[in-house]
Amino acid sequence: SLATEIAGRYFASCLMNAAGIRCQSRRDLDALVQSSAGAYVTKSATPAPRSGNPAPRMATFPNGSFNSMGLPNNGLAYYLDYVLADEQKRPGKTNFLSLAGTSLADNLAMLHQINDSAYTGFVELNLSCPNVPGHPQTGYDFEATRQTLEAVFDFYQKPLGVKLPPYFDLAHFDAIAAVLNQFPLSFVTTINSVGNGLLVNVETETVVIKPKGGFGGIGGASVKPTALANVRALSQRLNPAIAVIGVGGIMSGKDAFEHILCGASMLQIGTQFGYEGVAVFERIAKELGDIMLLKGYSSIDDFRGKLKTL
Ligand code: DHB
Repeated sequence: SLATEIAGRYFASCLMNAAGIRCQSRRDLDALVQSSAGAYVTKSATPAPRSGNPAPRMATFPNGSFNSMGLPNNGLAYYLDYVLADEQKRPGKTNFLSLAGTSLADNLAMLHQINDSAYTGFVELNLSCPNVPGHPQTGYDFEATRQTLEAVFDFYQKPLGVKLPPYFDLAHFDAIAAVLNQFPLSFVTTINSVGNGLLVNVETETVVIKPKGGFGGIGGASVKPTALANVRALSQRLNPAIAVIGVGGIMSGKDAFEHILCGASMLQIGTQFGYEGVAVFERIAKELGDIMLLKGYSSIDDFRGKLKTL
């Protein structure tokens, strides 16, 4: 079985979408509800709707995807209405509402609204959007992250996790884990895109996307080693009550297996879900199930976090 549990909530499958990809509209979210994904996460919301950055704002390359969307989203009310209606229709099913206010005040205002609502699901608080000009990623500022979580947990009563940017230095893993361990987080989701890469078109001698002079976040196959390192390093450092959700470079059942070995309790699929649509969840479930069968594992807990060193 691919079932998993986070903060006492049961999920029939450990596979779900990653925030941002095919989850902006009701139609997108309905497709996820109908799919074999174990849960869905909504496009990161801001208090008011946003149209995002100018196009072209997305591109692909042989080993990945590339974007600077700039938080186009339909606003918190749209997503909160959606998840509340879904909880009425499917009581007991937990999903993820992603928030990405561009200021602490915006995040706190949205969390007050959610705290005061009937919502029972998870919030994934995004501290790692790299694509809004003039707004650095909170997750790279350890003191700002601590202050954010202090202000959040001062009043917020429902299960909440954070979406983190990738870290690249062992001292940074120590520093972020020390901050996160001070708070009653339900989970961390790692990694967001590898921020501010640059793709070059040799024929036109130009950048390939319009926002930010061509700089954008990288996802897909090429970020898997960074994702695995972040899943592993955080799993090793975080209080065991904080689940790790792995995201980055999951295109196959083998990639999913690697994330779980590194410590992931749930897996989010972004780039490949963009390419393949909801069929990706069945395909990867089958591929992961086949690997587990061959190895004699009956649940993901049999090997989660058990990566061996040499
Ligand atoms: C966007 C990109 C991100 O990586 C993120 O976490 C939030 C928003 C975006 O460009 O829309």
